[in-house]
Amino acid sequence: MQRKRALYLASKGFNTTAIDISQSGIDKLIAVAEENKLKIDAFVCDLRSYNYPVFFDLIISSGVLHLVSRDEWKRALNQMKSATNINGYHSIGIFTKTEPEPEDQRGLMVGLAEEGELFDCYQDWEILDKKTFAFEHQHPDGPKHRHSGNRILARKR
Ligand SMILES: C[S@@+](CC[C@H](N)C(=O)[O-])C[C@H]1O[C@@H](n2cnc3c(N)ncnc32)[C@H](O)[C@@H]1O
Repeated sequence: MQRKRALYLASKGFNTTAIDISQSGIDKLIAVAEENKLKIDAFVCDLRSYNYPVFFDLIISSGVLHLVSRDEWKRALNQMKSATNINGYHSIGIFTKTEPEPEDQRGLMVGLAEEGELFDCYQDWEILDKKTFAFEHQHPDGPKHRHSGNRILARKR
């Protein structure tokens, strides 16, 4: 879940649902939504066990899927695809193995994708945009490191 995206969509009048496994992340989102009088259905949930209650027109997932195993993110992605309306969109980003897991995050990125693996999951959708990216990052007191990833925007046929 990306707070800014959820807040932006809610501010534009879309029915918006946001899930994250982190209680503090959800608490912050709810606080900012309330401050701005925005309605967001935000709750703590593991993406691996979310039961999609409705069909969505847009599902966004960025920087999260590689935090669960490859089998788990593939299963979750298939559930997201099933729970999307025809002509609905997915905007999905995942980190790839092109850059190795950073020293200070060992064991966290258990599901890093192969380059292009995310794109292969959308062969049955219309692919509107796909990108391979890499960037440098640093956590407070941690070493500088690089991440690589794939991002896709696709529409369900
Ligand atoms: C690196 S942040 C990415 C944040 C945001 N999506 C972005 O693009 O900046 C990873 C987020 O995934 C959440 N997360 C990790 N594992 C999760 C899981 N199994 N289910 C749901 N959320 C999870 C974390 O709590 C954290 O908020």
